[in-house]
Amino acid sequence: MVYKLFFLLLVISSVYAADHEVYRNCSRVDLCSQNRELERQERYKVILEGAVFAQEWQASGYKPQTAVKTVQIEETNSSRYHINDALDGEPTVVNFDDVQLSLTSAEIYLGNNKAVVNVSPFSITFYTDDVLTVVVEGDRLTLQKEELHTPFTFGVSFPQALHLYGLHEHADHLALQTTAPGGVDPYRVKTIDLNNYELYSTMAMYGAIPVIYGHGFNSTSGLFLHNAAELWVEITNNEVGADAFFMADSGALDLFIFLGPSPVDVVRQYTSLTGVAHLPPIWTLGYHQCRWGYADQQDVQTVIAEMDANDFPIDAIWLDIQHTQEMKFFTWNSENFSDPVSMLQNLSSTNRYLVVLSDCHFKKQEGYFVYDESLANDYFMKNLDGTVYEDEGWPGPSSWMDYLNPEAQEYYSSLYLYENWNDTTPTLGGVWNDMNEGATFNFTNERTFPYDVYHYGGVSNRDIHNMYGLLQVKATHKGLIDRDNGTLRPFILTRAHFAGSQRYAAFWTGDNTAQFGFISISFSMCLNANLLGTVFCGADIGGFFDEPTEELLQRFFQAGAWLPFFREHSNLGSERREPYVFSEEVQGPIRDAMKMRYEHLPVWYTLFYEHTRTGDPVIRPLLYHYPDDSDVFEIDDQLILGRDILVKAVDEAGVESVRMYFPGGEDLMWYSAYLDDTFYPGTGWIDVPVTIDRIPVYYRQGGIVPTKVPEASTTAMKDGFYVLTCVLDNNHTATGTLYVDDTLSFEYKDSQKYSYLSLEALEYDVVLSPIDDSEDEDFDIFVGVIVTITFDDDGKPVKRIYTHDVDGVPLVEKKFQGKEPLVIKLK
Ligand SMILES: *[C@@H]1O[C@H](CO)[C@@H](O)[C@H](O)[C@H]1NC(C)=O
Ligand SMILES: *[C@@H]1O[C@H](CO)[C@@H](O)[C@H](O)[C@H]1NC(C)=O
Ligand SMILES: *[C@@H]1O[C@H](CO)[C@@H](O)[C@H](O)[C@H]1NC(C)=O
Ligand SMILES: *[C@@H]1O[C@H](CO)[C@@H](O)[C@H](O)[C@H]1NC(C)=O
Ligand SMILES: *[C@@H]1O[C@H](CO)[C@@H](O)[C@H](O)[C@H]1NC(C)=O
Ligand SMILES: *[C@@H]1O[C@H](CO)[C@@H](O)[C@H](O)[C@H]1NC(C)=O
Ligand SMILES: *[C@@H]1O[C@H](CO)[C@@H](O)[C@H](O)[C@H]1NC(C)=O
Ligand SMILES: *[C@@H]1O[C@H](CO)[C@@H](O)[C@H](O)[C@H]1NC(C)=O
Ligand SMILES: *[C@@H]1O[C@H](CO)[C@@H](O)[C@H](O)[C@H]1NC(C)=O
Repeated sequence: MVYKLFFLLLVISSVYAADHEVYRNCSRVDLCSQNRELERQERYKVILEGAVFAQEWQASGYKPQTAVKTVQIEETNSSRYHINDALDGEPTVVNFDDVQLSLTSAEIYLGNNKAVVNVSPFSITFYTDDVLTVVVEGDRLTLQKEELHTPFTFGVSFPQALHLYGLHEHADHLALQTTAPGGVDPYRVKTIDLNNYELYSTMAMYGAIPVIYGHGFNSTSGLFLHNAAELWVEITNNEVGADAFFMADSGALDLFIFLGPSPVDVVRQYTSLTGVAHLPPIWTLGYHQCRWGYADQQDVQTVIAEMDANDFPIDAIWLDIQHTQEMKFFTWNSENFSDPVSMLQNLSSTNRYLVVLSDCHFKKQEGYFVYDESLANDYFMKNLDGTVYEDEGWPGPSSWMDYLNPEAQEYYSSLYLYENWNDTTPTLGGVWNDMNEGATFNFTNERTFPYDVYHYGGVSNRDIHNMYGLLQVKATHKGLIDRDNGTLRPFILTRAHFAGSQRYAAFWTGDNTAQFGFISISFSMCLNANLLGTVFCGADIGGFFDEPTEELLQRFFQAGAWLPFFREHSNLGSERREPYVFSEEVQGPIRDAMKMRYEHLPVWYTLFYEHTRTGDPVIRPLLYHYPDDSDVFEIDDQLILGRDILVKAVDEAGVESVRMYFPGGEDLMWYSAYLDDTFYPGTGWIDVPVTIDRIPVYYRQGGIVPTKVPEASTTAMKDGFYVLTCVLDNNHTATGTLYVDDTLSFEYKDSQKYSYLSLEALEYDVVLSPIDDSEDEDFDIFVGVIVTITFDDDGKPVKRIYTHDVDGVPLVEKKFQGKEPLVIKLK
């Protein structure tokens, strides 16, 4: 009996762990093992005589950011590959205020920043207001030239930092851990289909964003290595200050330095370079039901009907690979999806959308139009000898689209047009680009491309590996925009992602597992991505692998409802887990969590809009808003949605309380988002009681939270009135914002058709007024209910609910329109 149990445990733990024979650790990759313990010594001499200092780059994004500097270090006559497509347009340059050259250094001034190139020992130091913030070290700089590639290394230190962040994507804590030799491996940054990924690991995953931020008291800075090759980064956290040692496989040493000085500034500096997501169509912020796989059109019909019958809101249903004919993308399975147009019409009649999977590899089969046309036009990736690269994909032997080839990009985009993808309609509103690391089923190469495959122009995959997925979603995005003549905002979900992918696609944290730890890691991973501009992030609710317990599923729904992308997904052959298959007892908390998501739709939509204007994250770690409180620097199982909603993930079974951090100081109250009059002051760690019904969610005092009454879909909520919940501060004031547009088109951008309002509450007056005075506001806004929370002299909350103004006029009859502020008097 004992033996048997032991055996079972063994089997379980070995199934749900990454295969370390397939995925290489540092000691099995030359780049890492040969460079990791590189001796510090001067290898290069700096000759300042005759040196020319290019001007500073200024990012060309939505709002120029001046505190971005570039450093490029290359051999003379270098042939290193420089990537395109990551930056959102070419940065413009501004002149330095002054450059002072001496025999030993060059000092470069601009505004309150200074950069110094020191000749011996070589280093480049950056100062903000005379505080040393970033040092590019010369003593670990190496530039090698080998036959097929050009590895290099360099060190960077952040003297003010208490922690480093970034280097997405890893299933790890938000604050990067020390990876000293002998300890855990350095963080590996390479797009890889990491099957059965493990928690708190530095192994490479689907995404690769080579950005790192250092943060300490009153000082945040960062850097972006503009390079798409494999990377390993050793992290050393010192008592004060932190170091990162970069080992890059290939390409150029092309750095952008961000000088902060706050977390808000560095995020804006980075997003001003690589761009922001456009507004998502509003239905994509609702609930998505997915499963590998809904195998026929009847299933689609049934799932939607059951969700409706059981009062679960839903906006989209997803089809995995089974919707295709023999795994050939851009075709329908004629047996099980015999009438896709009827399926799409039926979905559309209930305001629901369809999203389908579409990968970057194509079945090697004569007569399959995509294969034939791509082969004839030379659109596939190549081997060194010029033959077409083939390997194992879903349909067996396959070839991979070479998105670096502009004609292949154009061709691939055109496949999404209605005339080329038979039986599709606008109700097929989104596309899921999976496997684009590019993943293969070839275990000899860690399930990805071997090093010696080539792209258009003879470019080695080595030089662009990490941006292959970016190139695919760029083409998909163009295809979907063209399909609807530029009128509708497309939706794409991608698994692989790189710097700049945020302009085209949302992403999710891939094939996670049904364990409690995967709830909190989804907060950590999505928070990290949000700091790196990649805001539209979510995790498979319930866990992709394995079967969740009912409690785990409930807790996952409750947490997942507070991540930007909200989708349940599960593995082939897993038990059905649509929320309606469970007992009413289990359904209740799930339904409540989903409705709370829909209720807060105006908050989500406003934040996504504000992201397009500023680059600001949608969900934020506590350190973003409380950068001087070192107790929050490592908190990553709590998030703040925007500025005002504090959420804690519950990631343990059977708990009756959780330890939660309330920031902001003793004069700031956090009031329960369930409006049940519980509240806590911002004085730090507190044990908060929890039941299975809900996770802790609190509104910040001083904020106004706009909500709506939840309905069966986001479309059904379009004309509903707003509820404004105002948690008044000690001066009896509160503020917020609200954004409204047609929810689907690009008119908000192309013809400024939107309403963007500031919300202000002062005791018994609530005022809605336009933020941009240049335009007439285009949308009428009805506020049906106002809730105010004040704290009386004893510090007890007093909640008042108003449906009529002081004159007895129902609030729903008062609307904001045009330009004039709407003043609502409550007393
Ligand atoms: C690296 O992986 C190999 C093969 O799985 C293993 O034998 C070795 O112990 C690993 N090295 C380290 C330092 O973990
Ligand atoms: C760089 O290229 C130029 C022109 O081809 C050549 O004259 C020069 O010697 C090269 N410099 C080095 C360091 O290779
Ligand atoms: C941060 O800056 C504020 C305002 O300048 C200052 O009062 C505070 O002492 C600084 N904190 C630290 C830890 O340096
Ligand atoms: C159609 O669906 C059924 C039931 O799920 C499945 O057994 C069958 O293999 C599917 N046929 C095709 C062609 O995919
Ligand atoms: C669409 O709905 C109609 C009416 O309920 C039904 O008869 C038909 O089978 C549905 N079509 C598909 C493809 O599910
Ligand atoms: C798997 O990769 C290896 C090494 O690149 C290659 O030799 C082999 O042909 C590949 N296998 C298949 C089935 O393509
Ligand atoms: C799309 O439909 C057209 C017209 O029925 C047909 O000629 C063509 O073969 C179809 N394409 C595919 C890929 O099925
Ligand atoms: C796009 O524009 C073309 C030409 O004006 C028109 O024929 C086509 O119907 C339009 N397509 C859509 C989806 O609006
Ligand atoms: C209240 O008003 C005073 C005076 O304007 C200001 O200093 C203080 O910061 C305000 N308090 C809050 C919580 O906004």
